[in-house]
Formats: sequence, structure tokens, C-alpha cells
Amino acid sequence: MSVVMLKDRAEAFESIDGLQEGGFRDAVLRGLALPQKMIPSRFFYDERGSELFEEITRLEVYYPTRSEMEIFDRHGADMGAYLPEARALVEFGSGSSLKIRAMLKAMPQLTHYAPIDISGEILTREAEALSADFRGLKVVPIHADFMSPVELPQELKDIGKLAFFPGSTIGNLEPYEALEFLTRVRETVGTGGHLLIGVDRKKDTETLVRAYDDPQGVTAAFNLNLLTRANRELDANFDLPSFIHEARYNADRGRIEMHLKSLKDQAVSIGDCHFEFTENETIHTENSYKYTPEEFRLLARAARFEPLATWTDTNERFGVYLLRSEG
Ligand code: AVI
Repeated sequence: MSVVMLKDRAEAFESIDGLQEGGFRDAVLRGLALPQKMIPSRFFYDERGSELFEEITRLEVYYPTRSEMEIFDRHGADMGAYLPEARALVEFGSGSSLKIRAMLKAMPQLTHYAPIDISGEILTREAEALSADFRGLKVVPIHADFMSPVELPQELKDIGKLAFFPGSTIGNLEPYEALEFLTRVRETVGTGGHLLIGVDRKKDTETLVRAYDDPQGVTAAFNLNLLTRANRELDANFDLPSFIHEARYNADRGRIEMHLKSLKDQAVSIGDCHFEFTENETIHTENSYKYTPEEFRLLARAARFEPLATWTDTNERFGVYLLRSEG
């Protein structure tokens, strides 16, 4: 963990932490009152937002999903060979069905698959599909928020655990939150347990920005959907054509930032509250941190994980890391 990352913690406490509690209304009202207006990225994922995210993962310019899949397809067997004692695959956030299937095929030693998800509906759907396709595998869905400490069911307590966190979702956490998350995962898998995690790598700015500002405008629609959601759910009156999507690479912080930029001076109401926007003022809606392999291994070690192996795709855009818990 670098000094810069630790310094971020204090700032992030002021800017983001206060917004993590409560629902969409609280987050929007509080976030728009900050000097840099913001709305936390977890509110992207209403029904339409989730569909748009699925569409993003299929875009030519959005390389993370394809690059990670290539790594699991090419190196799955190699990963499995590091883990002869793993019996339970514990997925933090379910829904990455293709990646899970690649892992289950590569690791016949697994006896249990335990997806943790906040959505009961997604859990049930996935559990049914996987039970049908992998006979002999016991699916143990855990209905919980994986950003909080998770209590595993008794049947998973005494068997070797491999946590799985693909998709570079860790990049959407502030570095101090990522460290806390990794620490909780380490506690969940216990001494000698493992974590297999996908993390996007730093690379040239053009490739990064294009991935978050695609020519078809799908990412723009995903970002702007936050305002549509606010209009629908919070009695807000955002004028959609007066805001545009913006993706920037902040090299000092090592992160892509997404913003919604006001094209003019304007006022917006949310119920009884009013917010002024000046021309070019933005609402900061997402950070997506990128890590060099060295930076990520440092973060893992700070959470008392020992990095065992690292894989990348042929274009070296994405990283998959196998870590072992040191207790
Ligand atoms: C979910 N998460 C890892 C995506 C990312 O790349 O940070 C969310 C996303 N935002 C815009 N495009 C994709």
C-alpha cells in the first residue's frame, strides 16, 4: 500500500464514506451538496442499469471482460493445479456465470460452490442452472451483502476454501476500502485458504478512456441512467439533454473517473431541494482504479495475503492473481 493510497483514505472518508449508508435518496441529496458533486456508483445497477452494464461487457472497446475470460480459458487448468486442497468455491457477488463454469470445469476437486449475493433472485437462478449442469457439486447460496462480514454456513467451515472475485470489481472501491475488503475475505477463507481475483491493469490513457467512452454511447447511457433513475424514483427534474457523459483518466490517482457534466448554468429540483449547476460543473459518478501487478501484490500483502501466481492475457491488459491467506 503506497503512501498516496493511504493519504486517499482520509479524503475518501470525507467524500465517499458518508454516502455509503442509506438509500438512493439520501446518497443523492448528500452527494449533490458536496463541493464536488457526486453520486456513488453502486446506484447504477437498477434494472436498466444492469442491462446496460451487460451490454458494456460485450463492447469491442471494453476489454476487461474479454481479457479476463481469455485468462480463465487459457490458464484455468494451471490455476487448478495450485489448489489441490480447495473444496469450496466461494464467489463474492454472483452473476459471472461463464467465468464460474470455466473454473468449475478446470477444478474437478471442488465439491461446493457458494455464491454470495445481495439479490435472492439472481442467487436462485444461478444455483438452479449450475446444479443442473454440474452433478455432484453442492450449490450453497448465501444471501448477504459481501461488502459486510459474511458468516459461512457450518458445512463450509472445515473444508479448503477458494474465494473468487472476478471482473475487477475491486477497482470500484477506494484503495482503503479494497484493503478492508481483502482483509475480510482473508478472514472468511481462513488460514491456508485462497483468493483468485481479477484486477484491471494500468495501461495507455487512450485504451483506458475508450473503454469507458465507447463510440456506440452505451457507457454514456449507463452513466446518464442515474439521472433517469433520480427523475423516476426521487421526484427530480434533471433535464437529460443538458448533461453529458465524461470519462477521464486521473493518472495521479491511477483511476478512470466517470462524470456527468452540465452543459449550461441550470437548477435542478429533487423533491423540495434545489441544486445549482454552473456550465461544465460535474457530478462524479464512478472511480475505476487500475493497478500494476506490483501495486496489486503490495495491496494483497498489506491484507496479509501471500501472492502465489499472476496470469495475464496476450495483450497484458488484465491481471488474475492467486493469493494465499496467511492467517
Ligand atoms: C463493475 N466495474 C468493474 C466496471 C468497471 O470497469 O469499473 C463498471 C463500469 N463502469 C463503466 N463501465 C464499466
